[in-house]
Amino acid sequence: MSESLVIASHCGPYRVDFDRVPEALAADGKPCHVIVDSRVADLHGQRLASILDSAASVLRVEATEDNKSLDAFPPYVEQLVAHGLRRDHVLLAIGGGIIQDITCFLASTMLRGVDWHFIPTTLLAQADSCIGSKSSVNCGAAKNILGTFKPPRRIVLDTRFLETLDRREIHSGVGEILKVHAIAGAHAFDTLAAEFDALFTDDAVLNRAIRRALEIKKGYIETDEFDTGPRLVFNFGHSFGHAIEAATHFAIPHGIAVTIGMDMAAAIAAGLGLEDGSAQHRMHAVLAANYQGFEDVPIPLDPFMAALSKDKKNTGAGQVTVILPQPDGGVARVVVAADQRFRDLCVDYLNHGRRA
Ligand SMILES: NC(=O)c1ccc[n+]([C@@H]2O[C@H](COP(=O)([O-])OP(=O)(O)OC[C@H]3O[C@@H](n4cnc5c(N)ncnc54)[C@H](O)[C@@H]3O)[C@@H](O)[C@H]2O)c1
Repeated sequence: MSESLVIASHCGPYRVDFDRVPEALAADGKPCHVIVDSRVADLHGQRLASILDSAASVLRVEATEDNKSLDAFPPYVEQLVAHGLRRDHVLLAIGGGIIQDITCFLASTMLRGVDWHFIPTTLLAQADSCIGSKSSVNCGAAKNILGTFKPPRRIVLDTRFLETLDRREIHSGVGEILKVHAIAGAHAFDTLAAEFDALFTDDAVLNRAIRRALEIKKGYIETDEFDTGPRLVFNFGHSFGHAIEAATHFAIPHGIAVTIGMDMAAAIAAGLGLEDGSAQHRMHAVLAANYQGFEDVPIPLDPFMAALSKDKKNTGAGQVTVILPQPDGGVARVVVAADQRFRDLCVDYLNHGRRA
């Protein structure tokens, strides 16, 4: 068990405990309403029994994008109201990013704010999304368009949950770990890339990478919790990645779409002459290894471009705001004209880039 990580936030400090459930969650006396991924409840019922049995209420939710859409919320609210949720109670999320987003949004809005705790069960949630305060909820066709900032009071990170995760979900989490290391610079990325194969076979290597990713992210979110400046680089791979998810109707898991998005960003930066192609040369092999199996999924151009032009980070018509590799080995936010040249580079990558 490694030392806890303490994160400063606008709600005060909160902590990530690298520990085991249920031992780590000795009741603090407050009634606790659990929102749990139904698959996780089925797979880890024994481990979670004492938490679920002692909860004031348990809401089982299937982790789908539809279930984190605003339309799905009335029954969640009704159940919590029926079980007497009050401001001095806590919500406990057990699951991946979808359960996190649902719980964080409810905790931010119900009764104008209720504390929440989090047991992340996917690699993506453990290594990245569990810290940083954000909730993102879908509305109609717009993904992640509604959101709030409210960190959990406490996160218990028990890596034994990862044992039942599908291989593609492990790659999805590794995609976000690669992203965080890319943001920290060429040395951090290359060090992780050298250990890429071991991430899937050696728990110690994976646990180190998770902790390192959280430490890197901590530095950014403590400086820019509300995502208006330095933290924006965490969207590396995301503008392209979200457009890929939309254009493929979510056939590609989030962190894998982000992995393809980083590869595409490197190709576009080189194509626009913003750097000399070193980033693409350095990063392509490991990124391609992480999206292996998804290199032939068709990504149709028009829906891709339509989704990219609607990205919430864009600031002006005819422009897209993207995070691109830089000559110094890091990444930075760049506003690019969405002109014919940019479109041609996108076409070229979508048709040939993943097979390059
Ligand atoms: N709020 C944020 O900061 C933030 C950041 C990144 C992503 N997200 C959101 O998170 C979502 C993606 O989350 P995710 O990748 O963590 O996964 P997820 O919650 O979508 O779950 C993916 C699949 O894994 C299953 N699962 C979860 N834990 C498991 C376990 N231990 N064993 C077996 N199966 C398990 C789920 O039931 C589901 O089928 C997206 O909606 C994305 O928009 C939010």
